[in-house]
Amino acid sequence: MAVTDANDIDRIMEISQTNTDASELIHAVEDNADAIFTWGYDKGERAKLDKLYEKAKTSQWNGQTDLDWSIEVDPYTALDLNLERALMGDFDDDPSSPVHKWGDKEWEEFGLQSIKWRLSQFMHGEQGALLCTAKIVETVPWIDAKYYAATQVVDEARHVEVFAKYLDEKLDGGYPVNPHLGLLLDDIINDSRWDMTYLGMQIMVEGLALAAFGFMHDVTTEPLLKKLLRYVMSDEARHVAFGVLSLQEVYAEMDASDIRERQEFAFEAAMRMRDRFLQQEVWEHMGVDTRKMVELLLNAPEESKVFQRMLFSKIVPNCRKLGLLDAGDGWLRDRFTEIGVIEFEHFEDTGAEFLDYDLEDGSYGESDEAAAVS
Ligand SMILES: [Fe+2]
Ligand SMILES: [Fe+2]
Repeated sequence: MAVTDANDIDRIMEISQTNTDASELIHAVEDNADAIFTWGYDKGERAKLDKLYEKAKTSQWNGQTDLDWSIEVDPYTALDLNLERALMGDFDDDPSSPVHKWGDKEWEEFGLQSIKWRLSQFMHGEQGALLCTAKIVETVPWIDAKYYAATQVVDEARHVEVFAKYLDEKLDGGYPVNPHLGLLLDDIINDSRWDMTYLGMQIMVEGLALAAFGFMHDVTTEPLLKKLLRYVMSDEARHVAFGVLSLQEVYAEMDASDIRERQEFAFEAAMRMRDRFLQQEVWEHMGVDTRKMVELLLNAPEESKVFQRMLFSKIVPNCRKLGLLDAGDGWLRDRFTEIGVIEFEHFEDTGAEFLDYDLEDGSYGESDEAAAVS
């Protein structure tokens, strides 16, 4: 997909109409993969994965008892609803904008819906991760990776659980899965090649989530959400590391045409995730012309879209570490340059960074009391 196609509003709007089963309780996707046994039981053959597995076993927490669910959350006072407007970028000065005449009341309501929507998409993404890692347990041929992935299945169940509980008990419910995110999750599950589950989920979806959780954690002052995000991040950093460490080995030996397919898959995933953050359902809820909003948001000046760019701050360095940026003729580097996110290439990759996020020993948010393990 070229960037010009990526910015095609008709395409984006058309995809938004595809969420036909938003009211259905279940959604079935073909997963197209063989379940693989291995008879090689040598634990620690892949030392870095073994280390991650050992770390995961001692880093478990209980979403039910480690978080203080008795904390009352009045979203209108506890959450920073004003910030949501700024996060969308510089788009609302245009007199033809459907939101040009909005006052504080509308923006406040938009802020609340926006947070509910975002946490809902995280919850759905977490379920995607739950299914993907269950699939990885079946499809990856290495015993150390099967062991580690099994711990991640538990982690992801806990993440779905805590986001669902927060939305239900503190925000009075959430939103259905966004069609762009839904299609991306379907594509990842659907692919028969086991490394694509890792690339789509561990590198792209979880890489974005780790950046977004970090941002939300740093700005929110609501203590329950802050601690919930901190706990989830300590797991997510391991998950992204699992992707980086596993794929490095696979991609080092892959031929150029197969690598190109991975580059294209990564870029398509990036575009679907960017489109998801147009949060069309929220504009719909607010009763404004969604197509017009999508147009304004896509055309907002790049320099104002700080939040949207920041979402790529983990993805780009991790793609670089995997050799995907510069493989072949540097196809992915060119695409990331076109969408304005190549600036992150030298940020720290997540292959080792997960230790910083450790709940007990990590340096992330050191001064933050809410992050301390009680
Ligand atoms: Fe997760
Ligand atoms: Fe995860």
